[in-house]
Amino acid sequence: MSSHPSDPNVRTPSDPGRLPMTLPLLMEKKRLGEPIVMVTAYDYPSARAAEAGGVDLVLVGDSAATTVLGYSATTPVVLEDMLVLARAVRRGLHTPLLIGDLPFGSYEVSDEQAITTAMRMVKEAGCEAVKLEGGGASSVSRARAIVGAGIPVMGHVGLTPQTSTALGGWKAQGRSAAAAAKIAAEALALQEAGCFALVFEAIPSAVTDELMGLLEIPVIGIGAGAGTDGQVLVFHDLLGIRDGLGARFVKRYANLQQEMNDGVAAYAEDVRGRRYPGPEHTYSIDAGELAELHELLHLA
Ligand code: KIV
Repeated sequence: MSSHPSDPNVRTPSDPGRLPMTLPLLMEKKRLGEPIVMVTAYDYPSARAAEAGGVDLVLVGDSAATTVLGYSATTPVVLEDMLVLARAVRRGLHTPLLIGDLPFGSYEVSDEQAITTAMRMVKEAGCEAVKLEGGGASSVSRARAIVGAGIPVMGHVGLTPQTSTALGGWKAQGRSAAAAAKIAAEALALQEAGCFALVFEAIPSAVTDELMGLLEIPVIGIGAGAGTDGQVLVFHDLLGIRDGLGARFVKRYANLQQEMNDGVAAYAEDVRGRRYPGPEHTYSIDAGELAELHELLHLA
C-alpha cells in the first residue's frame, strides 16, 4: 500500500497486515490483557522507527524540550515547536495512534485555551489525540472540555514534569498513603472526565497495583511497575541518544549517542587524513568534454 506524504491526515498502513490503532482497538487490547506499547517520537526518523517497530501509540512528548531542543526542563517548549515536530512525526507514521502533548502554558489558562490548542494539534499536525498533565480540578476541567470538543485526551498523573518544581523535584510520587490516594482520586477524576487512557509516571509499583483495579481505561506506565496495561519510554532514553543513564526506570536497548559520536569522529579523521572522499564518492565527466572545458578555460 502506498502512503500519502502530502496529506498529514491520511493514514495508510505500510504493512497491510497491521490495522491502524484506534480507541476501540486499544480498549480491546486492555480487555484481552495484551500489553500496549507506546514510545515518544519527535521527527521523521523516530516516527519511522516507531512504525517499523510495530508500536501501538506514539507520543510527540514535550520531553522534546530536553531530548531534541537541548533545554534542561520541559517547560520552555512552546506550541509552535510542538507543531513542527508533530508534523514531521505525522509524515513518518501510519499505523500507531498519534498523540500530541500539550506543552506547559498552552492549556492551563482556560478551557477555551485548552480546546484551541488541542484543535491546532489535530488540524495543523494531524494528531489524533492529545495528552495533558495533572489530575487537579483545572486539569480535569481542561480534559473534559477537550473531550467535549471531540478530541480524545490522555491524562498523566504521578510525576508530571511540567510541574515538577511544585512536586518537590524530579522524584517518584505517591510514596505515602495520602499521596497515593491523591493520585487515585486524580486518575478517577480524569477517567470520569472522559480520558481514553492515562499515563502513570514514577509511582511505586505496589501503588499502581492497588489503583489498576479501580480503572476501566488503559493505563500506560513509565516507572510505575509491570502492573499497567502498557509501557511508554522516551525514544532517546531507550536508544541511548543522551549522555548519562537517565532515570531508574529506563532500560537502554542501544547506545546510539556513542555510535553517532564515533561515526562523526571517524568522518572527521578521514577528511583530515584525505581518505574521504574516495574515487567511489566522486562524479565523472567524459574525457572529450573535459578537454573542451580545459581549452575554454585557458582561452578565456
Ligand atoms: O513528554 C513525554 O515524553 C511524556 C512521557 C514520559 C509520557 O510525557
